[in-house]
Order: sequence, then C-alpha cells, then structure tokens
Amino acid sequence: MSALDHKVALVTGSSRGIGAAIAHVFAQNGAQVAVHGRDVAALSAVRESIERSGGRAIQVLADTTKFDEIEAMRRQIERELGPIEILVANAGGSYSPPGPLEDTTEEGWRASVEGNLTATFLTIKSILPGMKERKAGNIITISSSAGRRPHPRSPIPYAAAKAGIQILTQDLAAQVGPFGIRVNCIAPETILTDRNKERIPEAQRQMLIDAHPIRRLGMPEDVARAALFLASDEAGWITGIVLDVAGGATMG
Ligand SMILES: NC(=O)c1ccc[n+]([C@@H]2O[C@H](COP(=O)([O-])OP(=O)(O)OC[C@H]3O[C@@H](n4cnc5c(N)ncnc54)[C@H](OP(=O)(O)O)[C@@H]3O)[C@@H](O)[C@H]2O)c1
Repeated sequence: MSALDHKVALVTGSSRGIGAAIAHVFAQNGAQVAVHGRDVAALSAVRESIERSGGRAIQVLADTTKFDEIEAMRRQIERELGPIEILVANAGGSYSPPGPLEDTTEEGWRASVEGNLTATFLTIKSILPGMKERKAGNIITISSSAGRRPHPRSPIPYAAAKAGIQILTQDLAAQVGPFGIRVNCIAPETILTDRNKERIPEAQRQMLIDAHPIRRLGMPEDVARAALFLASDEAGWITGIVLDVAGGATMG
C-alpha cells in the first residue's frame, strides 16, 4: 500500500516546475492526479510522463484567477476521477521585479496579489465545500521564503501576497480542523526549476548557493517530498504549519 493509495489529488500549476514534480511524486505514491495549468502541450507532456510510469492522471485547464473556470475544472475532476481529497494550491509566480516600493507598478502589484493570494483563495473556495461535506480533506498551499522574511531580492508585491497565503492557511486550518481537514503551507527558497535554470546566470547561482547552510539550491523534488509527507496520514496531527523547504536559508 502506498502513502496516497487511490486518493484524488488536484495539483494546480502542475504543467511544469514544482507542481509537475508534486504531481509525479503523488502519482508514484498511488494518487490519481489532476494535472492543471493553461499550456495544453506542457500539460499533456506531464500527464503522459505520469502514465508512462504507471500512474493515473488527467489534465485540466483553468485560469486560477477566475472562479467560474475553477468551478468548471472542479466539476470535470469530480466527473472523471471523483471528489477531490487532496488539493495543492501551487499555481503562482512573481509578476514584478524587486526594487523600491515607489517604483513598483500598480499592474505588478495587482498581478502578484491576484496570481498568488487571490488565486489560492478562489481555488480553496471552490474545493472546500465538498471536503467539509465529506468531513475529510487535505489542503497544501505554497508560499515562498520571500513571504518569511524581508530580503532585497524579493519583489514586495510577491512577498506580501505569499505572506497573505500563510495567514490564510493558518486561519483556515483553525476553521476546518473540526471537519477533519488539515491545511498546511510550504515555503520554498530558490528552487532549480527549468525556468530558474534559464533565469539565474551561473555567476549568481554560486552566490545563491552560499546563502544556504545546506550548500545547494533546492530541487522541485525537495518540495514534492515535503508535500507528500504533509498530504499523507504520517502527518495526521500536523495542521496550520508553514514548512520552510529552504536548505536552512530561512528558519521559522
Ligand atoms: N521556483 C522557485 O524558486 C519558487 C520558490 C518559492 C516559491 N515558489 C512558488 O512555487 C509555485 C510554483 O513555482 P514554479 O517555480 O514551479 O513556477 P513555474 O515553473 O513558473 O510554473 C508555474 C505554474 O503555475 C501555473 N500558473 C501560473 N499562473 C496561473 C494562472 N493564473 N492560472 C493557471 N495556472 C497558472 C503555470 O501554468 P502554465 O504555465 O500552464 O500557464 C505553471 O504550471 C509558485 O506558487 C511559486 O510562487 C517557487
């Protein structure tokens, strides 16, 4: 028996990066996974790769800033796999550069808050009622080390949105614990996704590595293994935590 045997899991933002690694690890551990994003080609590649490894997956599309699209996605997953038992609200990213607050554009601010905090809220709002009815469920949100402490490399709108996700997680954990639902948050430091491999020049990479007591950058699988633990019954008495997956660069 595997940790997530037959559980239905939705991992938002799993067409690439950290979300794709979580989808793979969940499927390897017995979950039936809804792979989500907006890029159909990338989604198909992740779904096919899970299927080739013997896992069960479907692919679903939705803009996580639009509630009606999330609702349509939820209904599709319920039809094709059954009720969602595990939700990883991972979709997000940073949509403005770091720098002085007064130089931050209103568009950059709104995009970061919408794409992270509002998207997490809307996704949970859609999936939570079914979990409450069934008196069972598991929700994992994704923050960032940017939301854990001030840092000149962190864009303020992104950091503020991620910090918002942390308190949303904890308020929700307190609210829904009596319904048998656990809610936890993972806060990763820089993770070497394909996008970050392109974005971070080799020279800067060493500087980043040196900022971690464990002298390497994180890999998507580091986050995926933490998500697997939180999603499994092994973490049955853990709720409302913000788990730093950060090589020691942030310490809660
Ligand atoms: N990588 C890091 O160093 C790092 C560190 C700390 C925290 N994080 C957080 O971890 C999460 C994943 O990051 P990542 O680096 O793996 O990101 P990524 O490689 O850029 O992938 C982002 C994923 O989110 C999806 N997505 C973004 N906005 C969406 C929207 N409005 N509607 C639907 N899907 C949307 C993308 O879908 P499509 O591409 O298909 O459109 C993609 O699947 C994010 O919340 C990020 O803030 C990342």
